[in-house]
Amino acid sequence: MPSLDVPPGGGGFSTVTFAELRLPDDVRDLLGERLASAHDPFGDIDRASARCHQAFAQLPVEVLQSLLDFGRHPDAPGVALVRNLPVDPLLPPTPRDGGPSLGKRTFVAEGVLLGLSGLLGEPVGFLSEREGRLVHDVVPVAYGAATQTSQGTKVFLSFHNDLVHDCQDCYSRHGPDFVVLNCLRADRESEACTYYADARDIVGLLDTATLDVLRSPAFRMNAPGGFVSSLVDRDEAYSDPVPVLRGPGEFPEVVTAANGVRPLTVAARAAFDTFQSACLVVAHEVRLAPGQALLINNRKGVHARSRYTAHYDGRDRWLQRTYVRRNLWDIRHRSVPGVRRIH
Ligand SMILES: [Fe+2]
Repeated sequence: MPSLDVPPGGGGFSTVTFAELRLPDDVRDLLGERLASAHDPFGDIDRASARCHQAFAQLPVEVLQSLLDFGRHPDAPGVALVRNLPVDPLLPPTPRDGGPSLGKRTFVAEGVLLGLSGLLGEPVGFLSEREGRLVHDVVPVAYGAATQTSQGTKVFLSFHNDLVHDCQDCYSRHGPDFVVLNCLRADRESEACTYYADARDIVGLLDTATLDVLRSPAFRMNAPGGFVSSLVDRDEAYSDPVPVLRGPGEFPEVVTAANGVRPLTVAARAAFDTFQSACLVVAHEVRLAPGQALLINNRKGVHARSRYTAHYDGRDRWLQRTYVRRNLWDIRHRSVPGVRRIH
């Protein structure tokens, strides 16, 4: 019988912010068989998503409900680790250029990613991120080694949300509600660690004065690197002043940018420093291995990544990632004519 094991929260609070789900071996094998017969999902993504949905819909109802509940309830955990997922029988070298891999002949990993994503919402691509691709390869890239991006390895990737530039907001409203990571290959030194800090745990550590500052529009967020690098006349694109925390006290939403947060006052700087320290204290840590996927709620919390060693020899760490929205209606102003799911 599958079980939803919930370890204590990172900060020891009563809020349950981390969930772990393990597929039984027979369920893994059956799911793998169904996904192995699937064809390249990149030709007709809606048909491929439907096929993946069909495969995942036959999971035991306890597993299925756990995954669906994770996506739909405000009081659900902010991050969930799914273990014992099927994997591709053969894996080509890790792409060195940021992907996609041209040598991948089977698509079990893509099926796992799209199947899990489809239980949370709709996978979506953004033109400013990986040219709108729906499946992102998260791999080390030599020229990005020292950057605050998913290509980096030499620096700690600070706690952040995955944001999308949009002239109408602070880069979070029209971005992904969820980020799903599926591990195809771990780093051989087992150094790479993903962190998740839930806003509910963070808030529990902070005093009222700090929270008041974080809830005030005293911060400007820089747009993601993928967008900024496309600009010809500047190397930054800061939002209007916005708060870091917003929403009901019981269900806070958090917004921080990987590419730079500019506090506008001395008090805002101090509050943001305190916020970042709190993230480290409460963070859950996961070292992803093949057959494991991490479901990240991109509004309830912030995530980060440790440094790790890259070799650029085809055997480096390899994750695949999707961005997921609960619906596409609210971002219809961004839709690309004739290309569904790309905005
Ligand atoms: Fe991220």
